[in-house]
This record gives sequence, C-alpha cells and structure tokens, in this order.
Amino acid sequence: MRRPIIAGNWKMNKNIAETKALVSELIPLVKDAEAEVVICTPYTDLYTAVELTKGTNISVGAENVHWAESGAFTGEISASMLTEIGVKYVIIGHSERRQYFGETDETVNKRVIAALNAGLKVIVCVGETLEEKEAGKTEDVVTTQTIAAFKDVSSDKIDDIVVAYEPVWAIGTGRTATADDANATIKVIRDTLAKVFCPACSEKIRIQYGGSMNPKNAHDLMAQPEIDGGLIGGASLKAVDFSMVVKY
Ligand code: PGA
Repeated sequence: MRRPIIAGNWKMNKNIAETKALVSELIPLVKDAEAEVVICTPYTDLYTAVELTKGTNISVGAENVHWAESGAFTGEISASMLTEIGVKYVIIGHSERRQYFGETDETVNKRVIAALNAGLKVIVCVGETLEEKEAGKTEDVVTTQTIAAFKDVSSDKIDDIVVAYEPVWAIGTGRTATADDANATIKVIRDTLAKVFCPACSEKIRIQYGGSMNPKNAHDLMAQPEIDGGLIGGASLKAVDFSMVVKY
C-alpha cells in the first residue's frame, strides 16, 4: 500500500506575511488527513513555513535545489542549506524550470543525486508538452525523462523518491488529463521505474498527477489505482481549496 501524498507547489507566490496566514489557516484544516501533506514554497518562505508547521502533519519542501555543495553559483541554493532549516522535500525538474530556465534531463539527474545524498526527499516532475502529446510521443517522453532523472540512483533511495506526472498542457490551464489517461501514463512511468530500479521497488514509489488538479477533480483522479497523490499549483494557494484536495 502506497500512502497518498498531496503536495502544494506555490511557485513564485506568497510573501512571508501571506505564508503565515495561509499556513495558520491550513494547519487545522488538514490535521486529521490520511494523506501525507507537503507544501513547497519559495526559498524566502521556507524558514517561516518550517517554523509554523513544527509538530504538525505538514512537511515543507523547496521548489528547486542546486547540485553542488557550495561554491561560485550566484543565485543558487544547495541541498544542505535546505536540510539545515528543516526542509524535507524538494521539487526537481518542474516543466517551468525545463521551459524557462534551461533545465535538462542531465541537470535534473544531478539535482536528484545531490538532493538524495543530502537526505532530502525528491518530487521529480516528468510530462509531455502539447506538441509532444499531439505527435503521439507522450510515452516516449515520460520514459526518457524518467530513465534520465534516475540514472545512477541506487534503489536504496526509493523511499525518498516521489514522481509527479505533469502533462505540460494541463498546468495552470484548467485543462486536466482524464483520470483514465493520467492513470495509463502513470502506469508507463511505473513500468519504467521497474526497469530502472526493480519491479518491487516501482510498486513502492509514489507517483502523483499534477496539472489543474482541484477540489472538483481530485476524487476521480485519486480513485485511479496508479495515482498516488497530486502536485497542486493554483489550488494550493488557498487553504480551503488545498485542504479539500488533501481530503479528496
Ligand atoms: P496547477 O500547477 O495545479 O496550477 O496546474 C501544477 C504544477 O505546476 O505543479
């Protein structure tokens, strides 16, 4: 049995005052949730979010991490800087990073290795663009991205790995993959993980769906056998909406 995991991806939203307000409202709303609850916030909000969620069932994640331990990488943040303040998770390879910030399969893999070695849990995003979907390449794209992301990652780390299947055309668009299609693509990802790690390993790895998931569609998506959670953008910015997804 894989425990469901619902993670918010705040993207570049919320200042510290707004973080305090959102987290304080969220804590009581999700306190008896069965799913694991994670909020991934901008770097500047992480410390506040960690402090406020101490002793609660909410874990905090970052939205990116650099692969080097330290050095001349202006503007970057290392994995140990995140663990030092109590961050547990990190999103890696989000399509917005791939699209706007030159993230490649190779840099995703470097970040995954560094984060896991530092003791972070990773949420690794894969997914096809609209063009790739229309060209019938969805399976190829998610397979290639999955293999590349976990190159040289040992199967000892599988408990710290979450994958998020996020069709790029569904992110922030209000267009969701059908529950059946999302389930089928996630099965392809799981079969790939079975080859990368081992069949029993892939049964343990949680795979989320992400892309316009909200209180209305969360139940149907979560009812699918392969879908173990959600990575939630827009709907994670309001405590009530996010809590409804958490409790799908
Ligand atoms: P969305 O974003 O829920 O706003 O579509 C999801 C994501 O980008 O992780």
